[in-house]
Amino acid sequence: MRITMIGSGYVGLVSGACFSEFGIHVTCVDKDSAKIDRLNAGEIPIFEPGLEKLVADNRAAGRLIFTTDLAAAVRGADAVFIAVGTPSRRGDGHADLSYVHAAAEEIAEAIDGYTVIVTKSTVPVGTGREVARIIAKTRPAGDFDVVSNPEFLREGSAIGDFMRPDRVIIGTESERARAVMRRLYRPLFLIETPILFTSLETAELTKYAANSFLATKITFINEIADLCEKLGADVHDVARGIGLDGRIGAKFLHPGPGYGGSCFPKDTLALVRTAADAGAPARIVEAVVDINDRRKKGMAARILRACGGSVSGKTIAVLGLTFKPNTDDMRDAPSLDIVPALQAAGATVRAYDPEGMGEARKLLRDVTWCDDAYEAMDGADAVTIVTEWNEFRLLDLERAKGLLRRPVMVDLRNIYRPDEMLAAGFRYLSIGRAPVGFE
Ligand code: UGA
Repeated sequence: MRITMIGSGYVGLVSGACFSEFGIHVTCVDKDSAKIDRLNAGEIPIFEPGLEKLVADNRAAGRLIFTTDLAAAVRGADAVFIAVGTPSRRGDGHADLSYVHAAAEEIAEAIDGYTVIVTKSTVPVGTGREVARIIAKTRPAGDFDVVSNPEFLREGSAIGDFMRPDRVIIGTESERARAVMRRLYRPLFLIETPILFTSLETAELTKYAANSFLATKITFINEIADLCEKLGADVHDVARGIGLDGRIGAKFLHPGPGYGGSCFPKDTLALVRTAADAGAPARIVEAVVDINDRRKKGMAARILRACGGSVSGKTIAVLGLTFKPNTDDMRDAPSLDIVPALQAAGATVRAYDPEGMGEARKLLRDVTWCDDAYEAMDGADAVTIVTEWNEFRLLDLERAKGLLRRPVMVDLRNIYRPDEMLAAGFRYLSIGRAPVGFE
């Protein structure tokens, strides 16, 4: 089989590489010739564990190629995936579909023979129909079907998520298109992955509903964490206590500084807008968006509190900047609210992130960039953990204490235990648990 990925960003590149691993011939297309040159030189423009090897192996096997020539890549393909970006449009929060529509037109001009056009980008409900309309208009005699096949990959574990997904959603009314999709996902049928066939609109909405529900779950536990702090309860015990109920489930109940990334903030906002336009307001998700925004903005206040009410003239070590570990992605990361708020309150910030500093330098100003966690803590009045990278989980606490001017840690990801931090002589403030070591 031959498939084409339009858009070699995160989704297109990971999905393309994984399909090629299934034995399918994949051509990844991108308009950005610098990106294609880098990929052809064996460089991976994003940080995703395992991706570099997957791309190298499949390129070497001749199953994965990169090009800027969309028309040549589309000709003769069994399926063409649209995996271009759908950023939030400035001003109104709607997803910007101009790249999707442009891709549909270009694909329409190039198809020859029956082709399945698959939307892989997260697109608002109705986009699949619109793509079909654009293609039919551009190529009235074109032989094609449109399928919605949303992706559920998490950055940092995307390859595992693709190879062993909880489910695959395939939205189309065409039996012929279903047959093509079944062949593409045959390796997953063999490992008994649930594959759900739905309508186009249902598949599109399922993606938004999944991300909005997960964002709601996180926001719920974050609010419970705040309540735990007021009532003297421990949020981890509450999360475990409710998560063991099979109807609730234990995952995505880890409290933190608020969700970020390229998906939850954008998709929750898009669902809110779509629901409002459809006359069926999504009031829970509206609240989630609002609470999460406020939460990220309010996080710096915790650091101020741990520093006795003010950080003016003080130095704060910030460990972790990306929106989560194992990625270099800084989009909507809590650090983008926290660092400027600390600076506005008069603090000097020393920061370190294992993979995110290249991106962070473009987004944050007047930060002292450090080579590791210990350099960041050297001479700081307090340290805060903003992203739970593995290398921060087992810091040498004695050494940290020797470097810090005061042994104060604000752990926004709860990767340490209050009792161990107290025993190590720290003043320790975390999320949803009683602070320890403060008089
Ligand atoms: C998310 C979904 O998990 C994927 O299923 C989906 O495919 C993807 O969006 C997408 O739409 O493309 P991702 O944004 O990569 O994936 O990251 P997550 O692991 O879901 O984390 C999102 C945010 O929630 C992070 O800021 C993370 O720190 C936060 N989070 C997650 C919590 O604060 N607590 C949790 O318990 C879990």
